[in-house]
Amino acid sequence: MESSRSMTISTIKESSELKYMNECQTWTGGLHRILCMQGGDGDGSYAKNSDPPASAITLSKPLLIAAIQTMKIFKSEDSLRIADLGCATGYNTLATIELVVESLSGRYNKECGFEPEFEAFFSDLPSNDFNSLFRSLPPFNENKKRRYYACGVPGSFYHRLFPKGKLHVAVSLSALHWLSQIPEVVLDKRSSAWNKGRAWIDGAKKDVVEAYAKQSEEDLEAFLRCRREEIVQGGMLFILMAGRPCSRRPENQLGDPDSRAKHPFTSSMDQAWEDLLNEGLIHEETRDSFNIPAYMRSVDEVEKAIHQCGGFEIQKLVYQRIVEHSKEKQEEWIRDPVSYGRAKANLVRATLKPMVEAHLGPKLSEELFKRFEKRASADLAMLHKTCFYGVIVVCAVRK
Ligand SMILES: C[S@@+](CC[C@H](N)C(=O)[O-])C[C@H]1O[C@@H](n2cnc3c(N)ncnc32)[C@H](O)[C@@H]1O
Repeated sequence: MESSRSMTISTIKESSELKYMNECQTWTGGLHRILCMQGGDGDGSYAKNSDPPASAITLSKPLLIAAIQTMKIFKSEDSLRIADLGCATGYNTLATIELVVESLSGRYNKECGFEPEFEAFFSDLPSNDFNSLFRSLPPFNENKKRRYYACGVPGSFYHRLFPKGKLHVAVSLSALHWLSQIPEVVLDKRSSAWNKGRAWIDGAKKDVVEAYAKQSEEDLEAFLRCRREEIVQGGMLFILMAGRPCSRRPENQLGDPDSRAKHPFTSSMDQAWEDLLNEGLIHEETRDSFNIPAYMRSVDEVEKAIHQCGGFEIQKLVYQRIVEHSKEKQEEWIRDPVSYGRAKANLVRATLKPMVEAHLGPKLSEELFKRFEKRASADLAMLHKTCFYGVIVVCAVRK
């Protein structure tokens, strides 16, 4: 028994080493090929684990409807074009497009006496599971279940995706906090920005945080410059992204100490990596070279980028704090911490699995998630804490 266990571990070790040597060279340049939510409809899929973004979207729904109610009417256009940038798969993107179409058609019927046709562009990185998304589309026009034409647009929203002046409405929900790449200095072992012992930047050293902040600034400006070209004059850009209030420094991405410790990218994640290291399954360098490419911007950072880019008039720019789970869900998990650990691990699988697999390979990646699950369910004190995360909502009109 023992010898078969150590054989498995040594096989894992070797394959991890080989994989690591290959991946280290492609990690920065190839992020767009591996950053995606977990596809399909299994327990660890994004489709089954998109509740946190869904509650953020529910919260921003009145703002999105209000923005549509005041936007310009394009009377001479037969069809209106809406894009969801970073759509992933599942319920959220379909509900968002449905909401925009519903609100626009109501307004056009009322104010113009006709309903335009609608084209919806579902856009995400090529690694997104577009097949699952297309399979989940309701049938076209049957009892008005879907009254828009649907297209998939593969590509990074940090680049141009559409011709000039093409879009009337562009939305991007729970996606823009994902960066285009891990800053190169963070991946350089000789640099002071080498992120030793952490998978993310919350609480990291100054040089790491500064490198992420710089990357975030460049990325947001690139995103806005592209949308400035693609959105027609009078058209609307609506963004919801994970964020932090202005008063909070970037090394404190998540606010109060409880929310920080409970967030899936922090303590349990770092402990799970440490477990793999202590069990001799990975090298220290393998752990230290894994970084999560996410950054939570402040309202100030977002405002500065919009002004710097020009071409947009800000109609709304707000920070909102959202409670992590409902009271009922929390009570259910307090009664069953194992299912809490499983739910948290599935959430992490849904958002990080393709990235972790690219770094560790499938076997070790599953070992990491198992350790994460164990760590999360063992932290009983944390289960009792009510935690929060923040979002920034932006509504801007193309001038
Ligand atoms: C958390 S999901 C949100 C999906 C969906 N909007 C929702 O609210 O449920 C984030 C999505 O952003 C996509 N994404 C991240 N970086 C991207 C980029 N540079 N270009 C396009 N999509 C990106 C990811 O692939 C992922 O599908």
